[in-house]
Amino acid sequence: MQEPYTRVYGSLYFYNMADKGPIGVFDSGYGGLTVLKEMVAKLPLYDYLYMGDNARAPYGSRSFETVYHYTLECIQWFFKQGCTLVILACNTASAKALRTIQQNDLEKLAPGKRVLGVIRPTTERIGEFTKTGNIGILGTKGTVQSKSYLLEIEKFYPLLNVYQEACPMWVPLIENNLDNSAGADYFIKQNLDCLLSYSKTIDTILLACTHYPLIANKIREFIPGHITLVSQGGIVAESLSEYLQGHPEIESYCSKNGTVEFVTTDSSEDFDNNGGRFYNSPLRSTHIDL
Ligand code: DGL
Repeated sequence: MQEPYTRVYGSLYFYNMADKGPIGVFDSGYGGLTVLKEMVAKLPLYDYLYMGDNARAPYGSRSFETVYHYTLECIQWFFKQGCTLVILACNTASAKALRTIQQNDLEKLAPGKRVLGVIRPTTERIGEFTKTGNIGILGTKGTVQSKSYLLEIEKFYPLLNVYQEACPMWVPLIENNLDNSAGADYFIKQNLDCLLSYSKTIDTILLACTHYPLIANKIREFIPGHITLVSQGGIVAESLSEYLQGHPEIESYCSKNGTVEFVTTDSSEDFDNNGGRFYNSPLRSTHIDL
C-alpha cells in the first residue's frame, strides 16, 4: 500500500494522493464543533475527522507567526491521516494562516489537496442579511486585527459599512464554561455596547468566531430585538456542499461511510466533558500528539 506521505527534507513532507479519506475539520478548541454539527446535518454521508488543538488554545490573541505555525502543523497531521480536504472551522486560523498556506505551502506539500476557511463563505453571503447596509462583526483580537472581514466583504459588497469589535475575553469564558456568570455578562455587554456605539443603524451582527454561537442567547439579551444575529455554521455547511458539487476531483477523494471522529491535542476526558455542549450531543474523543 502507498504511504500517505514521503519525507522530502527535514520535517517537510510531500503528501501523496492515496485512498479516500475523511473531511478534516479543524479548530483551536471546541468552537469548530458548532460548524461540524451543521456539516454533518447537511452532508451526513461523508466521513469527518475533527481536531481541536486544545493544548494550545486559544489562538485568538497569538501572533500571526504562531497561529500560522500551529495551523500548518495541524493541517499536516490531517494530510497524514489521508484527508484530501481540510476545513479551518476557526476564524482566527482562517484570518491569520489560510492565505499563506493556500498560496505558499500547499503547492510544495500537497498540490492535490485543499484547505478552505470560514471567512470567504461567510462574506459571500453576509450582505443578504442587512437592510440598512450597516453590519457589525464580533471576533477574536486576531480576526479583527487581521482586517480579513473588512477586505473580503469589500470584494462582495463594496457599499456595506462594516464595524468590528474584538472580544478577547469571550473564548476563554466559553471554553472554561464560565459564560453563564455575572463576570461574563460584564464583558459581553461591554463589547456589544462598544460595537453598537459605532453606528446607530447596525441591523446585523455576525458572530465571526465559531465559539460565539454558544452565547447567542446571552448576546440577544443585550442588543435591540430588531438586530439579526448571524452564525456561520449553516452558511459554511451550505458552501461546503456547493464546493463538493463543483469539485468532483476533490469530492472523489472524500470517503462516505457517515462516520464522525474526534481528536484533541489535550485531555480527551476534558474534550468529552466539554465538547458535547458545542456539538449538541455527547461525543467521544481520542488524544493525539502532533
Ligand atoms: N474559534 C476560533 C475562531 O473562530 C477562535 C478561538 C481561539 O481564540 O482560539 O476564531
